[in-house]
Amino acid sequence: MDIINLLELEAAAQNKLEQTAFDYYVSGAEDEVTLRDNRAAFSRLKLHYRVLRGFTTRSLETELLGHKLSMPVLIAPSAFHGLAHPDAELATIRAAHAAGTIMTLSTTSNMSLEQVRNASPDAMLWFQVYLYKDQSVSLEMIRRAEAVGASALVLTVDTPMLGRRERDIRNHFKLPDHLRIGNLMTTLPSVDGSGLGAFVRDNFKLEIGWDDVAWLRSVTNLPILLKGVCHPEDARLGVEHGAAGIWVSNHGGRQLDSSPATIDVLPRIADVVAGAVPIVLDGGVRRGTDVVKALALGATAVALGRPVLWALALDGQAGVTHALELLRAEVDATLALCGYDDVRRVSRELVG
Ligand SMILES: Cc1cc2nc3c(=O)[nH]c(=O)nc-3n(C[C@H](O)[C@H](O)[C@H](O)COP(=O)(O)O)c2cc1C
Repeated sequence: MDIINLLELEAAAQNKLEQTAFDYYVSGAEDEVTLRDNRAAFSRLKLHYRVLRGFTTRSLETELLGHKLSMPVLIAPSAFHGLAHPDAELATIRAAHAAGTIMTLSTTSNMSLEQVRNASPDAMLWFQVYLYKDQSVSLEMIRRAEAVGASALVLTVDTPMLGRRERDIRNHFKLPDHLRIGNLMTTLPSVDGSGLGAFVRDNFKLEIGWDDVAWLRSVTNLPILLKGVCHPEDARLGVEHGAAGIWVSNHGGRQLDSSPATIDVLPRIADVVAGAVPIVLDGGVRRGTDVVKALALGATAVALGRPVLWALALDGQAGVTHALELLRAEVDATLALCGYDDVRRVSRELVG
């Protein structure tokens, strides 16, 4: 593949994807202000590098909720990898495992939890949870995640309804006939508008509150991360309610348009969390410099959304591996040029 950075993936993948699939992956909500700002905010930050520090080796390894990661980058949950490649999430988890990092499997994956686990028995696997209106469905899904050895649950908390992604509304987005929502063996409804929007409205418990976090904690011993936190007060409440991690995310600009860029809210959230639990950040991470900026401002690790989907469309498992290794090389180069020898030692003074 002659792709040399993650930003190039999107245009190359566009040629490989059905228009409706590309639109589903690429879109943000409404005017896509937040989608753009996730990237722009990274560009606004500068790295105040140091010199003459004499380091000859560098370590990218880090630890996250008991896992040793080869680099502070993991895979964010995204739905429907089957739109990108026939191997779907099986390719993604194999690439994550080969890269020494975690794959977070979406509730709405095309492959089931069991299929994904079978594809890579030793991989580090987290499971993203949307709660269902029918509590027994949620409970069964959690039991299945536990049974396949998922080591954390990621409760997405920014979806009291699906954000208005206008391309999906216009396209009447639904799954092609050969694809299913693997964990439920069902498909998206054909409606006038976004089929995913209708599915979410009909199936997910939308009015979730802190009592639901308490419920989830009461039914599982797995650590629970709260994904979709952008307000420091919610981060504080999350820690208070026993979250094992705070996942700073605006859903890649797909939910509330005009929500702040994640990197902009990270410092205040890190201040409030004060090291009590790890922080994961996603949204617009494309460069090694983005990763290092996020670490400097308080994240333990970052997660990748769309680049994984583009890479999958281009070349399945090998494509995702290529993307992860490009980013690894960039993180390493950034660390070297900043005058640091260990990702765990990157601190706030680096961004001024
Ligand atoms: C096509 C697509 C599907 C997604 N599906 C989910 C999902 O099922 N659950 C979830 O919590 N987040 C979902 N997300 C949000 C991602 O987990 C992540 O927050 C976001 O993609 C990060 O931004 P980035 O794409 O700029 O890297 C999805 C994102 C995309 C692009």
